[in-house]
Amino acid sequence: MTRILVFSGSIRTGSFNARLAAVAAAELARLDADVTHISLADYPMPIYDGDLEAAEGQPDNALKLKRHFCAHQGILIVSPEYNAGVTPLLKNTIDWVSRVREQGEPPLAAYHGRVFAVCSASPGGFGGIRSQIAVRQSLSLGCGALVIPETCTVSAAHQAFDESGNLKDERTRGTLTACCKSLIDKARTLI
Ligand SMILES: Cc1cc2nc3c(=O)[nH]c(=O)nc-3n(C[C@H](O)[C@H](O)[C@H](O)COP(=O)(O)O)c2cc1C
Repeated sequence: MTRILVFSGSIRTGSFNARLAAVAAAELARLDADVTHISLADYPMPIYDGDLEAAEGQPDNALKLKRHFCAHQGILIVSPEYNAGVTPLLKNTIDWVSRVREQGEPPLAAYHGRVFAVCSASPGGFGGIRSQIAVRQSLSLGCGALVIPETCTVSAAHQAFDESGNLKDERTRGTLTACCKSLIDKARTLI
């Protein structure tokens, strides 16, 4: 079974991106992936600061998240958009995880040898696509990760989910399914 990790870059109560992450996790499971759905709320970390790292080392939660990344063949990140970029929470997570290097490991081990998908949701009309550009840049150019082009963007996210938390729009559901299928297919070939 293909192991896929799913998380959202927002931990806000009622987060639209967390809702999309939940729908994506259910869709991946329906497609026979072995899904781990986590919340970054369970892995609090200080804002990255080189002095803090030099004095105290990396937070335990950075190590835990790095090991989570390494234990999965695919990772689906749902990225909210703040000022046409990525949320501090998600960027901080990417940055801390990029710093963890266990004994004998090459740098950026969490980002290599697995495949990433990026989706987004926003109440606005662009569906958070500009945050995806920033996340894709950090993952692929910054960390050397393989990121698939398939995605699901949910615009008008405040109206996009029904009472059960499912996506109302059939076309949007289709893009999510295609993204999940592609992630599983690519991840399956890797490890
Ligand atoms: C600081 C800040 C900046 C934002 N900038 C954007 C933006 O550039 N584009 C956008 O579509 N939404 C923007 N938003 C609105 C967010 O998309 C909205 O708050 C969304 O609900 C956040 O995701 P969440 O529901 O998963 O927490 C911004 C929100 C905040 C708090």
